[in-house]
Amino acid sequence: MVGGPQRLSAPRGGMARRRREKAVLAPGHSPLDWARLKSSGKDLRGVQMLGRYTLADVKKHNTETDAWCVIRGKVYNITPYLDFHPGGKKDLMRVAGRDGTKLFMYTHSWVNVDALLDQCLVGILAPDA
Ligand code: HEM
Repeated sequence: MVGGPQRLSAPRGGMARRRREKAVLAPGHSPLDWARLKSSGKDLRGVQMLGRYTLADVKKHNTETDAWCVIRGKVYNITPYLDFHPGGKKDLMRVAGRDGTKLFMYTHSWVNVDALLDQCLVGILAPDA
């Protein structure tokens, strides 16, 4: 069986099905492992203090070794989370260097980003100058 009981009523075929494809995470990258890493005290932000960043600033961080994104006005360093994302690295990279709010809300609005990426927060989004 693919996935849990919620998938019994999942739509078949088309975008909706593709969107919920299961990614294979490397060993040691389960949600529990992520929770452990977050509470390990390791620096996951890569910045000394929280700041105000424009979209132009965020755009500079668009690689797999340095990926930032904006979700609902908050700027996150998603680099450490890439290998832990249940939807896979490739999908998460789609929001690297961008405001990913729309895509995020479209794929899984129920996910609590504030809690999940709290240790990856680098600042808040400021209007472009
Ligand atoms: C900062 C941004 C993101 C965070 C924190 C995040 C987090 C998560 C979490 C916690 C899950 C598991 C939740 C669940 O299955 O109910 C998940 C699943 C998923 N995510 Fe994301 N995500 C982000 C961005 C994206 C983007 C931009 C896409 C697509 C372009 C995406 C595609 C998926 C898919 C397809 C799954 C389903 C995997 C499965 O069913 O096993 N995610 N994500």
